[in-house]
Amino acid sequence: MNEITQTQFFGDFDRLRSRIDILERLKPEFYAQEVEQIFRRAWLPVASMTDLPSNNCYVVAEVPPLKTSLVVARGDDGKVRAFYNVCRHRGARLVKHPSGCRKALTCGFHGWTYATDGRLIGVTDKTQFADLDPEQHGLIPVHTEVWEDFVFVNFDPKPQGTLQQWLGKFHDQYKGFFSNRQRIASYRIAVESNWNVAINSFSEGYHAAYVHRKTVPDYQGGKQNPQRHRAYLEITEHHGRYSAQANPNRKVTPVEEIAYGHGRPLYPSFPPFSEDGLPLPPGVNASRNPNWGFDVAEVFPVLIWIIGAHWHANLWFWPTAADKTDVHVEFFAYKAETVGDALAHAYFRTRLREVFREDVGTMEQVTSALKSGAMQNIMLSRQEFLLQQHYAVADEMLRSRP
Ligand code: FES
Ligand SMILES: [Fe+2]
Repeated sequence: MNEITQTQFFGDFDRLRSRIDILERLKPEFYAQEVEQIFRRAWLPVASMTDLPSNNCYVVAEVPPLKTSLVVARGDDGKVRAFYNVCRHRGARLVKHPSGCRKALTCGFHGWTYATDGRLIGVTDKTQFADLDPEQHGLIPVHTEVWEDFVFVNFDPKPQGTLQQWLGKFHDQYKGFFSNRQRIASYRIAVESNWNVAINSFSEGYHAAYVHRKTVPDYQGGKQNPQRHRAYLEITEHHGRYSAQANPNRKVTPVEEIAYGHGRPLYPSFPPFSEDGLPLPPGVNASRNPNWGFDVAEVFPVLIWIIGAHWHANLWFWPTAADKTDVHVEFFAYKAETVGDALAHAYFRTRLREVFREDVGTMEQVTSALKSGAMQNIMLSRQEFLLQQHYAVADEMLRSRP
């Protein structure tokens, strides 16, 4: 028997290509097509239910590739809706504060007021408008659906399918996993990188032994897995995910002993997986690997999840131009109950920030090197199937309508 860990692969890999014309994708004309064919049609996760804890709460969500700001609001009826953040009078930005809870949203320009379900409920100096019908001047909605902790929107006037169809197999496999968490970090970074290059740096683990050799030297790999092959890798119609295997022989560092010695440990400490001790929904550690480290999933086109036993990260890659991406990072972990837990959170946050900085470095280096025009294509291995999947889904959408 081969003792080196081999990957279990699941999905239709025949439609993938290992050679990608990347130079083409750096051109502004190509990016303009991506905006129209991908971002204006895909279901896009734009907000977290964590920010809508009760009725009449709202959050502003920016969708940079579409140059659009949305107000995502939970109405008095509990229903979540997303609207263009534009006042129907003269088009001012309606809500400026990033989030909050109030029964009505009032425009700062001339004082028009809207309910959190989008109805126009107040017009100042109304008698001076000759023919204004308030019923026809509510906020302009976009298609909105809530799935687990995420609010998704779709800008296509006639979406190609429901969110459930878009998520496919993922839809029923993460029940409850993202709830009951504490957000422990949230930051945005403007990166000088093409968005495809940026998201690609998170959907493979091939780089981990090299890019992260100092920050997390032995958390994966070990004798059985020197090349850090993914234990499990699966692609669905639009998305993909893999499980990374932990190194059973990794050494806990003295700092980790202090940071995690008084609370519940987080990455890169991997509690052994057991069905009884740590119930997880079927999408998480899908192969039920007893030596599980963490999962990574790409929810096409913009979101990466990194998922551990008691934590997860959401990473958004929003393009603003062909060579610029706004990366939005959020870390969530179990709710801290003791000072020891809070210390564990603080260490986890700091450690991952360092690892993340290393990844951002690769995005900018790759984009700037490619822009020289020296080479046209990139080559992708089987361990980079999630990247191949990203380009296959992108190309399907780019070709699907003129
Ligand atoms: S633009 Fe909002 S009230 Fe005039
Ligand atoms: Fe990385």
